[in-house]
Amino acid sequence: MDFEFSDNLKNVKSSEIRDLLKYIHLSDMISFGGGLPNPETFPSQEIKNILDDIIDNYASSALQYGQTDGLAYLKNELKNYLLKDENININPDNMMITTGSQQALYALTKIFANPNDYVITEAPTYVGMISSLNANSVRAVSVNMDNHGMITDDLENKLKMLKSMGIKPKFIYTIPTFQNPAGYTMDLDRRKHLLEIAYDYNIPVIEDNPYGDLRYSGNKLPTLKSLDANDIVTYLGTFSKVMAPGLRTGFTLSQPEVIHRFNMLKQSLDLASDSLSQYIAYEYLKRGIIYEQVPKTIELYKRKRDIMLESLDDNMENAEWSRPDGGMFLWVKLNKNIDSSKMLKRAIENKVAYVTGSAFYYNNPEKNTMRLNFTYSKDDDIKEGIKRLAKTINEEMKNY
Ligand SMILES: Cc1ncc(COP(=O)(O)O)c(C=O)c1O
Repeated sequence: MDFEFSDNLKNVKSSEIRDLLKYIHLSDMISFGGGLPNPETFPSQEIKNILDDIIDNYASSALQYGQTDGLAYLKNELKNYLLKDENININPDNMMITTGSQQALYALTKIFANPNDYVITEAPTYVGMISSLNANSVRAVSVNMDNHGMITDDLENKLKMLKSMGIKPKFIYTIPTFQNPAGYTMDLDRRKHLLEIAYDYNIPVIEDNPYGDLRYSGNKLPTLKSLDANDIVTYLGTFSKVMAPGLRTGFTLSQPEVIHRFNMLKQSLDLASDSLSQYIAYEYLKRGIIYEQVPKTIELYKRKRDIMLESLDDNMENAEWSRPDGGMFLWVKLNKNIDSSKMLKRAIENKVAYVTGSAFYYNNPEKNTMRLNFTYSKDDDIKEGIKRLAKTINEEMKNY
């Protein structure tokens, strides 16, 4: 039949990253695209043991529908973990367990913004946030970044400009620590400045922190949430990068009014997040497995980051790149004349893949950029893949 579709998804494009995943499986292809955690980090045996115990002890509730706001046991464990790990003191009533933090991005966009409203994002920003904005017909004004994270002076200028036009953005979305895609981390002065600006303009802040636990160098910085004296920050966390993404378990910390609205919306999204996964996450925290697992993940990813940085230093000309202290990605800027989307065909011919930077801009993309994932490939493949990428760039440069 000829379907007549709503306008709701007219702005949503298929993610270039998802489209790229198909290349991962081609033989000989080395892919720095995708954003997958390395399966070596999954605590499979521990999860197997936990599952056995859950089924023996709590099958009747772990296989049942759960509460919309999440498993109370898990929330209590998270409260302890967040206090210890992030110095965040949270009442479990101000917490919502989510189906990955991706669900929170969608829900918070819907909760805070009407169609055609504006929000603030970093440029570049997480592609899943761009999808959530597009799915809700919400527009973004982008703030520039450098090695020290979001340029808060630029934020202030843009808010001033918007105010003069009578526009008040509905929230400021930031990934301050080991940003996806750029790998940048916002320094302490800028964190404080960002909060001052948000207080002045009375705009909520959404702090997305999926990578904060994965630090390989440098000193830990306080989260915006822990610095927030005025309860303006909504904080998103996830088990995806510290346990396993397939369990789709995340959490949101916010004010009771926000959590209440989220609860109402979530009833229409999925009633509640997966009970079994929440029990697994609960036991994972309670048994302290997270404190053994994260250091192992850090060791593996640090080695891979170092290999990629060394390979870039040794092979790459005509480009600059970020040197992330943690997370899973680094950001490459090529000669201004190179469009990394156009270059991708040549890269695929040379059997290496990346994500083109344009995918991470709400508008006005810097086309000479790309994101490289350093956590997934084998060590030797990282070295070989960077050589192939350098060769690709050199071939491309001959056109200019
Ligand atoms: C910045 C950021 N936010 C949110 C997510 C979504 O994570 P999940 O839904 O698996 O918790 C990701 C995943 O890669 C991410 O990089």
